[in-house]
Amino acid sequence: MTKLSQLSLEEKAALLSGRFQKTTLPVARLDLPALRFSDGPHGVRAEDPQGDSLGGISDSLPATCFPPAATSACSWDPELLYRMGVALAEECRHYGIHVLLGPAVNIKRNPLAGRNFEYFSEDPHITSELGTAVSKGIQSQGVGVSLKHFAANNSENYRFTGNSIVDIRALREIYLKGFEQIVKKSQPTTLMCAYNQINGVFCAQNKWLLSDVLREEWGFEGLVMTDWGATTEREKDLAAGLDLEMPGMVPQNVSRVVDAVKAGTLSTEALDTAVTNLLRLIERVYREEQQPCDFAANADLAAEIACKSAVLMKNENAALPLSKNKRYLVIGDLFRFMRYQGSGSSLINPAFLRTPEDQFRQQGVDYDYIRGYRESEIDLETEYLNEALEKAKDAENILLFLGQTDYVESEGFDRESMTLPKNQLALIKEVIKLGKRPIVVLFGGSPVELPFADDCVAILNMMLPGQMGGEATYKLLFGEENPSGKLAETWPLRYKDVPYGDSFSKNPLEFYRESIFVGYRYYETVNKEVRFPFGHGLSYTNFSYSDPIVEKHDQNYIVSLDLSNTGAVDGAEIVQLYVSAPKSNVFKPVRELRAFQRVSLKAGESKRIKLSLPEAELRYYHPLLKRWVLEPGLYKFQLATSSSDIRLVVDVEMAGEDVPHPYSAEISAAYRNPAQISDAQFEELLATPLPQYEMGKRPYTYETAIGEFDSFFGKIIRKILVGMGTKQYKKALKLPDSTEREREKKAGLFIAKMMPSNSLRSLCYSSSGALSYPLSLLLLDFANGRPLRGLTRLFTARMGDSEKRNGPQHLKPSQ
Ligand code: BGC
Repeated sequence: MTKLSQLSLEEKAALLSGRFQKTTLPVARLDLPALRFSDGPHGVRAEDPQGDSLGGISDSLPATCFPPAATSACSWDPELLYRMGVALAEECRHYGIHVLLGPAVNIKRNPLAGRNFEYFSEDPHITSELGTAVSKGIQSQGVGVSLKHFAANNSENYRFTGNSIVDIRALREIYLKGFEQIVKKSQPTTLMCAYNQINGVFCAQNKWLLSDVLREEWGFEGLVMTDWGATTEREKDLAAGLDLEMPGMVPQNVSRVVDAVKAGTLSTEALDTAVTNLLRLIERVYREEQQPCDFAANADLAAEIACKSAVLMKNENAALPLSKNKRYLVIGDLFRFMRYQGSGSSLINPAFLRTPEDQFRQQGVDYDYIRGYRESEIDLETEYLNEALEKAKDAENILLFLGQTDYVESEGFDRESMTLPKNQLALIKEVIKLGKRPIVVLFGGSPVELPFADDCVAILNMMLPGQMGGEATYKLLFGEENPSGKLAETWPLRYKDVPYGDSFSKNPLEFYRESIFVGYRYYETVNKEVRFPFGHGLSYTNFSYSDPIVEKHDQNYIVSLDLSNTGAVDGAEIVQLYVSAPKSNVFKPVRELRAFQRVSLKAGESKRIKLSLPEAELRYYHPLLKRWVLEPGLYKFQLATSSSDIRLVVDVEMAGEDVPHPYSAEISAAYRNPAQISDAQFEELLATPLPQYEMGKRPYTYETAIGEFDSFFGKIIRKILVGMGTKQYKKALKLPDSTEREREKKAGLFIAKMMPSNSLRSLCYSSSGALSYPLSLLLLDFANGRPLRGLTRLFTARMGDSEKRNGPQHLKPSQ
C-alpha cells in the first residue's frame, strides 16, 4: 500500500501545511519525517526548529556567510557558484536542513527595490546561468532548493498586497525567463510562490502561472510552496497548483481544504497530486544523518568569491594597487563595521568574520584610522566629520570606506533614495573640498549615485562581500589579487534617469510600462548616459579582442575569438556576447546579452575562446501568437567588455519566420521612447483596461495593507503592530555597543518598516499561529469600526460554521 493511500483526508490536508516556521508535519504512524527548511540564499540560517514566530530573524546557528547574489553575480562565473552551492549544501547537511530557501532569481527592475541585494541581475540570461549553477550545486549533494520568488516580485513597499501590471512579452522575456531556464536546466526540487499579484491574480492562486506555464509548459516536477504567509484562499491555491502552505499553523486553512473536498469544490485528484509532490520531496531530500562540515574551507571559498566578484569601477593613473611602503589615512566606519550582507530573512550569523580592519592589522599595513561618520546613523554628526577633516587635511593617501547600511537598504521596504546616507555624502564632499582625491571603497547591495566620482582617483566596489570581505578588500587593494568582477546591473548617473522612477512603489499597483526595456536594455536603447554600464569592470591588466568567427552547428551558433592579456599581470576577463536583432517594427532593445565567458589569462597569454549560443535564444515572445518567434534578417553579434564597450562585430543573416505583426503602428512608435508610455498606450499593450486602486478604501478587507488603516481603531492597530518593531529597536539602543545591539536594532527596524505592508491575512498566515485567525478577524472588525460585532462573533460564536472557518468573503483590492 502506498503512503498516499494510507492517509486520511484530514491527514492529507494537514500535511500540506507547515509548522514551527520552517518544518513540515511528521506523521509518525506512517514513518513520515518532518522536513526542515532554512533560508538562504547565500548561507544557511539554521534556526531553532521551535524558535520565535518571526523565524528567529536575529538568531541562528553560525554558518558561512557567502557574498549575496548581487555580489556573486558580478563574478559571472557559473563554476564558482556551483561550488558555492555544494558548500551551502554541505552546511545544510551539517545542520540537518533538507531544503535551502534559494536561489532568489527575480529581476532588478528598479535600483531602489529593497531586496535587490538578494537577486543576481537586471538581465535574465546571467540570472539563468548563475541560478542554474547554484541550484545544481546544492542539489548535487542531495539537498533541496527553493527557487524564489515566483514571479514578478520586484518591490517591497507593498510586498504582501502588491499587484504587478506587466505585459505578457515582458513577463516571458524578462521576468519569467530566468525561472524557465533554471527549471528546465536544473529541475529544482521546490519553487516558492511570491506574495504579489500579477495582473490582478495572486501568484498563489494563479493557475496559469503555477500549472499551465510552470508544470505543463516547462515540465516542473517538484513541489510548489508559498512564500511565508502568501496563502490566499487555501483551497483555491491548492486547485491552482500550490502544494504546501508555509509557515502554516492556521487550523482554519486545513479545515477549508477538508471542507472543499467534502463539498466537491476541490477535487481529490488535486489534493492527492499535492500530497504526492510532498511525499516525493521527502523521498528525494530527507536524510537522518548529519555530516561534519569544513567551515574553514568554506570561509576560503567565501573569500575567493568576494575577490572574483568585486568590481574596480574606476582607476585613474593606476592609483590602485596600493603599495605597502606608504602610510594611509583610512576614514569611514564601514572599515571597522563592514557591511557584508543584507538585512531581513536572509541574515546569516557568520561562522567567522574578517573586516578590512582585521586584515589591515594582520598584514601590518601602515595606516591611521578615523571614523568620519557612524554607520548606524544617517544624518550628519559634525563631531565625527570634523575629527576626520582635521586628520585629512595633512594626509596624502586617503582611503574612504563608504556605502549603504542596513538602515537604508533591507528586505521589507524599498530604499527611499539612491543617494548615500547624508553623513557619508558630507564627509566625501568635505574631503574633496580640502583638495584631496581619495580612493573610495564602496559597500552596499545596489547602485548609489556617485556625484563625486570624477573627484576620486579610484573606486573599488566590494558590494556585500560576505564574511571574508575584509580579506578580499585587502588583497584587491594591495594587488595580491587582480579585480575581475563586472557589474551585473547598470549604475545610472542619477535616480531621475530611471524609467518610471517617480511612481515606483508608491501604490500597490505597479505599472511596468517600460515593458522589456529593463536596465541596460533601456539605457542603451535610448542612448542615455550612465555612471557605469552593465558589464563594466576594470582590471590591473588589459585585454585585447581579435579574429572573431561565427559558425553554425545544428541549432547553435559558435562564436570564437582570440583573447589576449596584453598587460604585465595575470588577470581574468569576462567576454560578453550581445546580439542586436534586425531593425523592424517589433520593438526590441538595441542589444541583449546572449552569452558570456569568464577567462583567466596569464600576463602576455593569448587564448582562442568559444561561446555557444542556441539560435532559439534569439527569438522574441509574440504576444498574439503566444509563442516564441525568430524574426528574419540581419543579426549583429557583438563581442564586448560591457554593454556599451563593443570590441568586435560580426553580421549574421537568419531566415527566421514571417508572421503577422504583433503591434499597432502606434505602439511600435511609442516604444521608440519607452519612458513616455501613456495610460492609453499601456492599456493597448496589455490589451485590457488599467486597474485602479483606491488607497484606504473602506470597509477594509482582509487584504487591505495595515499601513492604509486610517480609522480610529485602525490607527491604534497599526500603531501597536508597528510598535512591536520600534520597541525592539529602542530597546536595542539601550544596549552597549556590540554585535547583539546592531542585530537587534536591525531586526526591530525590519519589523517596523515591513509591518505596514502586511494585510491582516498575510500577518495571520505568516505568524505560525501567533496571530490566530479569529483574532485577525476581530482586528478587522475593530478597524472597520465594528468592535461589538467582532467581539460578539468571537465570544458568542454566533456566526455559522462555514463563516467561522472561512472568514469573511475574501475580497481583492478594488480594481
Ligand atoms: C521571504 C522569503 C523567505 C521566507 C522565510 C519570506 O518573508 O520573502 O524569501 O524565504 O520569508 O524566511
